Amino acid sequence: MALRTLDSLGSLAGKRVIVRVDFNVPLKDGVITDDGRVRAALPTLNHLINQGARVIACSHLGRPDGAPDAKFSLAPVAQRLSELLGKPVAFARDTVGESAQDAVAALEDGDVAVIENLRFNPGETAKDDAQRRAFAEELAQLGDVLVSDGFGVVHRKQASVYDLAEILPSAAGYLIEKEVDVLDRLTENPERPYAVVLGGSKVSDKLGVIAHLLPRADKILVGGGMLFTFLAAQGFPVGKSLLESDQIETVRGYMEAAKERGVELILPVDAVMAESFGPDAAHVVAPADALEETAFGADGLGLDIGPETAKLFADAIRSSRTVFWNGPMGVFEMPAFAEGTRVVAKALTDVEGLSVVGGGDSAAAVRQLGFADSDFGHISTGGGASLEFLEGKKLPGLEVLGWSA
Ligand code: 3PG
Repeated sequence: MALRTLDSLGSLAGKRVIVRVDFNVPLKDGVITDDGRVRAALPTLNHLINQGARVIACSHLGRPDGAPDAKFSLAPVAQRLSELLGKPVAFARDTVGESAQDAVAALEDGDVAVIENLRFNPGETAKDDAQRRAFAEELAQLGDVLVSDGFGVVHRKQASVYDLAEILPSAAGYLIEKEVDVLDRLTENPERPYAVVLGGSKVSDKLGVIAHLLPRADKILVGGGMLFTFLAAQGFPVGKSLLESDQIETVRGYMEAAKERGVELILPVDAVMAESFGPDAAHVVAPADALEETAFGADGLGLDIGPETAKLFADAIRSSRTVFWNGPMGVFEMPAFAEGTRVVAKALTDVEGLSVVGGGDSAAAVRQLGFADSDFGHISTGGGASLEFLEGKKLPGLEVLGWSA
């Protein structure tokens, strides 16, 4: 079944429109370090403003404990949004209290307000249906309709994502529409060859997606911290590198399954081993089967894929027509260990076909390394959400908008 889209809500001029966005941006000392998610909300917000709707944007930020916590305030995001929209944005110091009600009452057609972090209220993330529903009812008082556009959070059954969409007339915004359209192309008949590049630190986070994509992808490339569990599964010692020993057997199962199905599982042939974890740590390149044979011995720490692996991955990516990438190849935040991620990102920009970058870390990595969003077919704003979509899981925030895979 298809998503209900914005058009299904009819004219929104003069209406109070609650827009559930994902403004969960990375902050350092109160400053936004990557505003990609705020930018991604602009097409829907501008459309509503131009229609003369009274826009109430709401989001979570971080994982506060159901109570106000200044370090998770959306105030800096409201400020950034105002700069990006080029117009004033009112900011309410609470989510459904007096400040929010006053901010909404003061809106005129085409105005925008941001209300404070949804997760400052325990009802937003409550497991108890009645508690969650009660908070959604309070939120519903603020608006006439809901436009749901926080793709990054559609895998969460939370009050503003799920219950509110049942209470108010609701539809997906342009961002959710676009994300679903692109990710659906990856699950339904992708143009071949189809390569999936997985990185990041935890194998256990990616198991579902590996299992689901094994029968669908032509090539699966594994880098990032989780590569060491794959090397250990081949019997190679990995020093003090990240290792999930309890996943070794599962990983061996995937290696077998890949062989049986004729899927190319491309694993690293070398890695950058460091003496310690830090930007200035001494480091050398070592072959995958001899990671402990460097000067650091069994104390060495793998922090990036090596240059041979980067080349192997880049060739496999460039010769594919569809590529999905989630998770950095190394500790890209430190220039000494960013090369693997840079080479993979560059190869994605050369793909003739559809290249998709998924996940907050990968999106931040490509921007930090100087690539533009337009260099890729699509940069998904969803981390967990895009992975769960590709795993074929049911996503409550999409199902409530009429979507079924
Ligand atoms: C994300 O960053 O992936 C989304 O904003 C969801 O955040 P959460 O994992 O805290 O629910």
